[in-house]
Amino acid sequence: MRGVVAAALLACGVTADAQQGSKTDPKGGKVLTVGVIGDYGWTGWTPSPDHFCLEVLPKLKAANITIPNEVQNDCDPGDKLYIGNATALQLDTSAYVGQVCVLKNCSAFVTVGDNFYDSGIDFTTGGILRFQEAWVDMYKEGIFEEAPWYQCLGNHDIVKGQSGVDFQTKIAPLYDDRWYFGTEQLPYYTYDLEGEDFSATFVVIDSDCFVNDYQNPSSVYFNEYTKACHQDTQTQLNFLSTAFANSKADWKFLQLHHGFMSSAQNYTELQPIMDIVRAHRGVVLNGHDHCLAHYQYNDTNFILSGAAGYPQSGDCNNGVALGPYAKFLGANANAAANGFVTMDLSKDSINVEYYMRDMEFDGSDMYPVSSDLKPSYKFNITEKAK
Ligand SMILES: *[C@@H]1O[C@H](CO)[C@@H](O)[C@H](O)[C@H]1NC(C)=O
Ligand SMILES: *[C@@H]1O[C@H](CO)[C@@H](O)[C@H](O)[C@H]1NC(C)=O
Ligand SMILES: *[C@@H]1O[C@H](CO)[C@@H](O)[C@H](O)[C@H]1NC(C)=O
Ligand SMILES: *[C@@H]1O[C@H](CO)[C@@H](O)[C@H](O)[C@H]1NC(C)=O
Ligand SMILES: *[C@@H]1O[C@H](CO)[C@@H](O)[C@H](O)[C@H]1NC(C)=O
Ligand SMILES: *[C@@H]1O[C@H](CO)[C@@H](O)[C@H](O)[C@H]1NC(C)=O
Repeated sequence: MRGVVAAALLACGVTADAQQGSKTDPKGGKVLTVGVIGDYGWTGWTPSPDHFCLEVLPKLKAANITIPNEVQNDCDPGDKLYIGNATALQLDTSAYVGQVCVLKNCSAFVTVGDNFYDSGIDFTTGGILRFQEAWVDMYKEGIFEEAPWYQCLGNHDIVKGQSGVDFQTKIAPLYDDRWYFGTEQLPYYTYDLEGEDFSATFVVIDSDCFVNDYQNPSSVYFNEYTKACHQDTQTQLNFLSTAFANSKADWKFLQLHHGFMSSAQNYTELQPIMDIVRAHRGVVLNGHDHCLAHYQYNDTNFILSGAAGYPQSGDCNNGVALGPYAKFLGANANAAANGFVTMDLSKDSINVEYYMRDMEFDGSDMYPVSSDLKPSYKFNITEKAK
């Protein structure tokens, strides 16, 4: 964690097959299962060396030299410490997700952002190499071969500004047809998934535009892109409310990065978004905190799936519930588990299952789970959207 205007509003029911180069939406049977995954893209990130970060950077600052955000961000001391383990953990977790998804028959992946640490990727050779290594090659075998990924931006994805956003929304979908970012090449979009006798509407939002802290000129997330979209959050609010209002689907989901409900930091500036979700009895899918959790607040379910890369128990308050809103926390006093969430969509219910990986790693077990091909936690949603 730590770390456009005037899109013709998409008519409801527009499906993904419209976009050139993208896989078509899976057609579900009686049940359609999707995997919810977030905060995964560590592999291939090379932090700057200590000598630069600790000795050179302060000198440059003292000389009033402007430090590009991505250079500043690539010196993040926490992320520099994590990258060794994070790379191995992303790889092990990708294999685990693939294994569970064969058993569960996952048809698609729904992501909640932070696709590329530490500063996203843009249209440079370095960006291409990262895209290939941390995503194309990481998630390619077995169940991953055919499943589309409905993507979303996180804070790490927007550090490079518009050029980083453009890579993920415009270039990546043509690079690999499993990578989906809507039909309008914008950071917000909507899509429907259909089963034999039910449907579900998903709306993706870039929550980076709503975060007040990112407007501080000293923030690594402050750039022309976040500045402009922060001044125009109404566009995304209108998009969300129109998409939900036009949809007659049985189930409605909001897909975004930051958590309105959290055990680490509640992004209360997301309130206007949550009011719309609540009015339509939607379900919120988010990441940002590096753990798995289920929160329930003011009649809304929040599914946190931020554990596909580097898990952090502090993000789930070391497993200690801060209030009755915390229904499940995938962490204990020492560690949090890697994992992801599956949702079995059907006409009468959404069966939500939390899969946590047995974290045997480097000779010890960081988070023992006795049978990790079974869910560690599950709940069932039966109240339909409106
Ligand atoms: C897997 O899911 C797809 C989409 O819902 C469905 O068409 C197919 O029958 C399922 N396969 C199995 C073996 O359940
Ligand atoms: C850097 O800028 C600050 C404030 O603008 C100024 O006080 C300081 O003298 C400058 N330092 C150098 C080395 O130019
Ligand atoms: C990396 O993993 C090793 C082995 O499990 C562990 O001892 C160490 O604390 C981890 N370091 C970080 C920064 O996560
Ligand atoms: C988030 O909000 C809930 C409900 O108001 C509150 O109990 C909890 O302490 C808040 N979390 C944090 C990290 O402040
Ligand atoms: C619950 O949601 C409603 C409508 O979105 C809002 O007006 C109200 O303030 C919320 N209540 C709490 C306790 O957050
Ligand atoms: C979820 O609830 C529905 C309706 O009550 C029920 O038919 C279904 O069996 C439940 N599913 C699970 C997995 O508990």
